[in-house]
Amino acid sequence: MAALKKIAAIPGDGIGQEVIPQALKVVQATGAAIEFTQFDWGADRFLADSTTVPTDGFTMLARDFEAILVGAFGDPRIASNIHAKEILLGMRTKMDLFANVRPVRLMDESLCPLKSVKPEDLDFTVIRENTEGVYGDSGGVFKLGTPDEVAIQEDINTRKGVERIIRYAFEYCSNSKKMNGSPRRRVLMCDKSNAMTHAGGLWQRTFKDVARDFPKIETQHMYVDALCMQMVRDPRNFDVIVTNNMFGDIITDLAAGLQGGLGVAASGNLRPRHTSMFEPVHGSAPPIAGKNVANPLGAILTAAMMLAHLGLDQPARKIESAVLAAVREKKTTADIGGTLGTEQAGEWIASKVSTSKDLDY
Ligand code: NAD
Ligand code: IPM
Ligand code: MN
Repeated sequence: MAALKKIAAIPGDGIGQEVIPQALKVVQATGAAIEFTQFDWGADRFLADSTTVPTDGFTMLARDFEAILVGAFGDPRIASNIHAKEILLGMRTKMDLFANVRPVRLMDESLCPLKSVKPEDLDFTVIRENTEGVYGDSGGVFKLGTPDEVAIQEDINTRKGVERIIRYAFEYCSNSKKMNGSPRRRVLMCDKSNAMTHAGGLWQRTFKDVARDFPKIETQHMYVDALCMQMVRDPRNFDVIVTNNMFGDIITDLAAGLQGGLGVAASGNLRPRHTSMFEPVHGSAPPIAGKNVANPLGAILTAAMMLAHLGLDQPARKIESAVLAAVREKKTTADIGGTLGTEQAGEWIASKVSTSKDLDY
């Protein structure tokens, strides 16, 4: 019997509270040796007692848990978004979860809004720097509220931070395979070094330096604007993309659109050999929250990604194939063509997982 792995679950706000319970249910249906502990961090707690992250919260997560499964943060009642910044961005930076890994895979041709793009054509991963850039919260406002107001938001790029994410992308390219089993071959760096020359120069130099250590991997470069155009015109040739925090945020929503929307996109916030955090790419979607319509697949695939990261490959694969079956049989929510509610879609996948052939894990 495998040792019990302890996972912290933080559903957060809005649809996070609906999709995370489905992900937990599906993980439990695999029979994997996982124990979940739930935390109430989020908007309701903040509004009740002004707590964003409880004292020593991140230390506790890193000490007591092997991974963290998160829903989403963001609530129209909290205009400053302070709780989301402190919890979500806090977790990423204070726990140094520097690699935001966002796989982009097409489960079924019907989900892609582009003509004639098949599942084997769309299988790339965006590796987003997760602790620096314009997210560093460095800057300030001057002459606040006056006609002369000045706002500065600095873009922080350190050699160490840039080098480790680029190296992570090359290692990912060397070690991971596409869904069809073929090896990955190319790392593309995406930046805006034609306009943002200081930061771009550092990224360019570092990319060339790190690439020398991986002579078998092809390299490519695109400016972020051109990349967006190419992603919509023809995303077939993307393989591994490495980029900064903000461009990574933007291009992964665009890429989610190619996969069938935000409802199906998964991600991991990783720091090798340390407690890492997993969350769907989507947000709290306030307009659809509480209506049992949110797509739980992004959260469920995120949970599978977490299990694979913890070395539980067989339950992870079991979940992925049940999700694929749900998509093919249209046992899904309406955003991707089904008629089920959030809970019913989760239930269908959980029962598929629990009745599928037993694997030895
Ligand atoms: P969003 O991802 O919440 O929603 C964007 C669009 O996608 C909406 O039309 C929404 O209905 C749809 N959508 C998202 N997830 C879906 C799902 N699972 N099923 C079906 N449809 C889905 O982004 P937004 O509207 O820009 O932001 C809403 C709030 O979420 C904001 O407060 C934002 O800051 C926050 N946010 C949080 C995270 C996070 O916690 N990781 C990520 C993104 C946005
Ligand atoms: C994401 C989100 C966050 C980000 C927001 C909520 C701060 O959009 O995880 O993609 O920009 O990183
Ligand atoms: Mn985003």
